[in-house]
Amino acid sequence: MIATKKKAAVTESSASRSAQLLDWYDRHRRRLPWRPPAGERADPYRVWLSEIMLQQTGVKTVGPYFEKFLARWPDVASLGRASQDDVLRMWAGLGYYSRARNLHACAVAVLRDHGGVFPDSEEGLRKLPGIGPYTAAAIGAIAFDIRTMPVDGNIERVVSRLYAVEEPLPQAKPLIGELASMLLGPSRAGDSAQALMDLGSSICTPKKPACALCPLNDDCVARARGDQEIFPRKAPKKAGTLRRGAAFIVTRDDELLVRTRAEKGLLGGMTEVPGSEWLAGQDDEAALKQAPALKGVARWHRKAGVVTHVFTHFPLELVVYTAKLAARTRAPEGMRWVPIATLAGEALPNVMRKAIAHGLDL
Ligand code: ADE
Repeated sequence: MIATKKKAAVTESSASRSAQLLDWYDRHRRRLPWRPPAGERADPYRVWLSEIMLQQTGVKTVGPYFEKFLARWPDVASLGRASQDDVLRMWAGLGYYSRARNLHACAVAVLRDHGGVFPDSEEGLRKLPGIGPYTAAAIGAIAFDIRTMPVDGNIERVVSRLYAVEEPLPQAKPLIGELASMLLGPSRAGDSAQALMDLGSSICTPKKPACALCPLNDDCVARARGDQEIFPRKAPKKAGTLRRGAAFIVTRDDELLVRTRAEKGLLGGMTEVPGSEWLAGQDDEAALKQAPALKGVARWHRKAGVVTHVFTHFPLELVVYTAKLAARTRAPEGMRWVPIATLAGEALPNVMRKAIAHGLDL
């Protein structure tokens, strides 16, 4: 576990970690079209082009697009002289087209305002269209060897495991950024960052990380504890507003009245018992008024307690009403009787299983 105060102790071993990391990178780095041969300086144009493409797209998809762009526009000046339409056409299929518009606008700005040469500071880079803090740090580190660490999702995972960062994302971003920066050596910032990216994509994977192959395994706190997969911790998604409703458990001997939900939307096409709408702030009386009109139901019995269920977007609280109908009572239009004994084979969502269990005292 790491608290901010413990960071001083961490610094000491960081120097050897950054050396181990670079050593591993020199042997195992991925060959990617935008990476120059080992030891050669990266071309800022290629680094920028790849980083914009990689913003929302994976390495595999980006590869061929990167090659196509480079063949057509070998430098930022030629891209700056291209028409936006041509750039958009070449981008087709990569998605998030504002990236392509910004890409073109950025090339125009570099050509017009910087003589076709990319600024060599994070601050200068951030003034250009489409370049935010992460991309400026990535270009700065990889193309200009600025001692800065661009922290992407892979790096967040590696670092949060290495130091067992208990603080959840996104709050932990500044701490993870600081810890990641401690893995920078005196030089080769871009290689350190790309080493962590490669480690995250090939070894320190979200599930079943291959820790035995990791150059940092001796130092990894999460590995020592055996709980690598819980990192990075993530804050629980904000709960939606509580919705309330009623479920009506209607039986005929040992059969239950059910219907099928609409194909589209939440739990589409699944089986349910008749129920009210699920609405925020709905009171029990309003929900009861939506009971199905059934001949032979003089009054509904309310079961004590409520059934609760949490959907991805909202929690739900259902009151449960029961009624027993005479044998051979017909099911209303759109509903059907199913033997209680065969309910296990019905497409019943969990919330319905809970409501039925509650209503039938199962
Ligand atoms: N994702 C974003 N930038 C990258 C890079 N330079 N190498 C590998 N993956 C990346």
